[in-house]
Amino acid sequence: MNTIIEPFRIKAVERIRMTTPEERLGFLKDAGWNVFKLRADDVLIDLLTDSGTSAMSDQQWGAMMQGDESYAGSRSWQRFEASVQDIFGFKYIIPTHQGRAAERILFSIICKPGHIVPNNSHFDTTRANIEFTGAQALDLVIKEGLEPQNPHPFKGNMDVARLEKLIEDEGREKIPICMLTVTNNSGGGQPVSMANVRAVSAVCRKHGIPLFLDACRIAENAWFIKSREEGFADKTPKEIAQEMCSYADGCTMSAKKDGLANIGGFLAGNDESLTRQERDLLILTEGFPTYGGLAGRDLEAIAVGLQEALEEDYLRYRMASTQYLGEHISKKGVPIMQPPGGHAIYIDARAMLPHIPPTQYPGIALCNALYLKGGIRGVEIGTVMFGKKDADGNDLPAPMDLVRLAIPRRVYTQSHVDYMVEVILEVMEERDDIRGYRITEEAPFLRHFTATFEPT
Ligand code: F0G
Repeated sequence: MNTIIEPFRIKAVERIRMTTPEERLGFLKDAGWNVFKLRADDVLIDLLTDSGTSAMSDQQWGAMMQGDESYAGSRSWQRFEASVQDIFGFKYIIPTHQGRAAERILFSIICKPGHIVPNNSHFDTTRANIEFTGAQALDLVIKEGLEPQNPHPFKGNMDVARLEKLIEDEGREKIPICMLTVTNNSGGGQPVSMANVRAVSAVCRKHGIPLFLDACRIAENAWFIKSREEGFADKTPKEIAQEMCSYADGCTMSAKKDGLANIGGFLAGNDESLTRQERDLLILTEGFPTYGGLAGRDLEAIAVGLQEALEEDYLRYRMASTQYLGEHISKKGVPIMQPPGGHAIYIDARAMLPHIPPTQYPGIALCNALYLKGGIRGVEIGTVMFGKKDADGNDLPAPMDLVRLAIPRRVYTQSHVDYMVEVILEVMEERDDIRGYRITEEAPFLRHFTATFEPT
């Protein structure tokens, strides 16, 4: 049997408003040619992010009705803590309203100017929160991770030799923490192998550097380990996730991904004195330590969602569906980051649109073309998001110009996926007519969210 069937039935539906190409041209112009500034109602298939966009299950909605909204020590907090500890195993859990709040609390306590924080690849909010403290965020992904066509099974792995050299060159004192992002979002949603988690952990432990997982997509990473790494085929995704965490000292988590929730996150770890400082900061900006900026019902949704995201039928379907999209466009010549990632397909816009130089943002050009053609909204992960500037303020190209098509969890059906394939292939046929862009306005941090553009 080849047909991918969703391992769920649909009990509530959300209307999609159909639009014409002419209407979309008007909407995009009004949005300053930046898909972040579109009204979501004007989007047919929204692949901007897999974050906070999941469809919740009947079990989650049912649990939400049982939310205990007590300010302190609520029942929902106890369920949340038990569910998180069951999977992650860390001693201290701090709920936050989303992943970046956990990052801000953690990094503002442990990072100082002059510090360096290595990661396989930092996600944009992680990098920004580290750099905001004056520390440097350093990407140490293996070289295969920067080669879009390389089919290496664990392209999210960290280059352990470079990590060791960094510690040797800079000294342990400059490195307050080491991160490992599973799966590696900025590097194409690529997984990290268990062997790599173990190796990075061994180096960190040897030097007394705490290792934290950025665990947003740990369930998907666990599935890749199960299906690709020797010795894990008979383990459950949950057992694999538990083992990954056993090599770490803590994690940051956005429950908006593999928590199958629409909001929420947490910070976890085993260090009592660090936790005390984190809690103090939490109270200042997020809330009391048993709700941390979340409603009791949110804690319930996350407690259930974290467990559902590790179910085998769900993960098998999710990975098959993402892979289907990747394979059907790549076999017709669309250059994608190989192999397909867990939560998203990354199109190599620089390779697809070689006539547009990186400083004219091929990723933005492709995003806009997909929207105009079929109402699909993706996101540029390239020179606008990650490019640096030279001394004169001119853009320097990012290592890659990708367009990410992130698949919300349990939201779109296989016929939506077939539609995505058709739109992408039509854009591919007409790619020679696509033009580049220039920026007309931008912010100093995270400029991709608010910049406005015009076609060149
Ligand atoms: N780390 C990773 C790897 C992420 O992908 C994200 C969010 C965060 C941290 C921050 O979590 O959004 O809950 O504050 N990624 C979303 C995305 C926004 O679209 O990939 P958050």
